[in-house]
Amino acid sequence: LFARPWQFIKGCVRVDDLPPGDRTEIAFAGRSNVGKSSLINALTNRVNLARTSNTPGRTQELNIFEADDAPMRIVDMPGYGFAKAPKKTVEKWTRLIHSYLKGRATLRRVFVLIDGRHGPKAADETVMNELDTAAVSYQIVLTKADKPKAGELERIQAKTAQMIAKHPAAHPEMIITSSEKGVGIEELRATIARF
Ligand code: GTP
Ligand code: MG
Repeated sequence: LFARPWQFIKGCVRVDDLPPGDRTEIAFAGRSNVGKSSLINALTNRVNLARTSNTPGRTQELNIFEADDAPMRIVDMPGYGFAKAPKKTVEKWTRLIHSYLKGRATLRRVFVLIDGRHGPKAADETVMNELDTAAVSYQIVLTKADKPKAGELERIQAKTAQMIAKHPAAHPEMIITSSEKGVGIEELRATIARF
């Protein structure tokens, strides 16, 4: 699946702009700057397929990626929570994210990314609660696992596991990744390929 050449198809500012629901979708959600776009680049073996930045708020649309003959598409989402953007703009993204996550029949799984340095935040719980209510399947991915010290990563992993246990629609297994060091990428690819 990921040996194929993945391409950027379009950016959607409204759910009406989305392509027809003719194939399965997987989406990457998470707080601004958590590493969503970087993870998509790591999965697809591309340096800059999805644009990344040090500045939270880089991805501003629902960005659609497809590969020829691939039976699914990948959706990169704007971040929620903190972003260096005007309040009105952030509200617009938030509405877009929520209407996509709750209303997309073809959405097979959402990967909810959580920063491995900080663990889950209130905004993550909010999104998880909404996905539980909408009965959308999701799975937690810890990102930037290269950053925290070994003991610290274990502590955050344990804290995240406790949170997952409280959420009925959350897949029980979390995936620990570093896009920078290539950690967990094969595991995530294998998970996706099983869809
Ligand atoms: P928004 O689109 O703004 O919501 O951000 P995003 O979640 O798409 O994050 P993005 O992929 O743009 O990455 C944000 C910053 O984190 C960039 O400076 C990346 O280089 C850095 N980053 C992403 N993944 C990793 C990682 O695995 N390890 C380290 N050390 N840094 C990472
Ligand atoms: Mg992004």
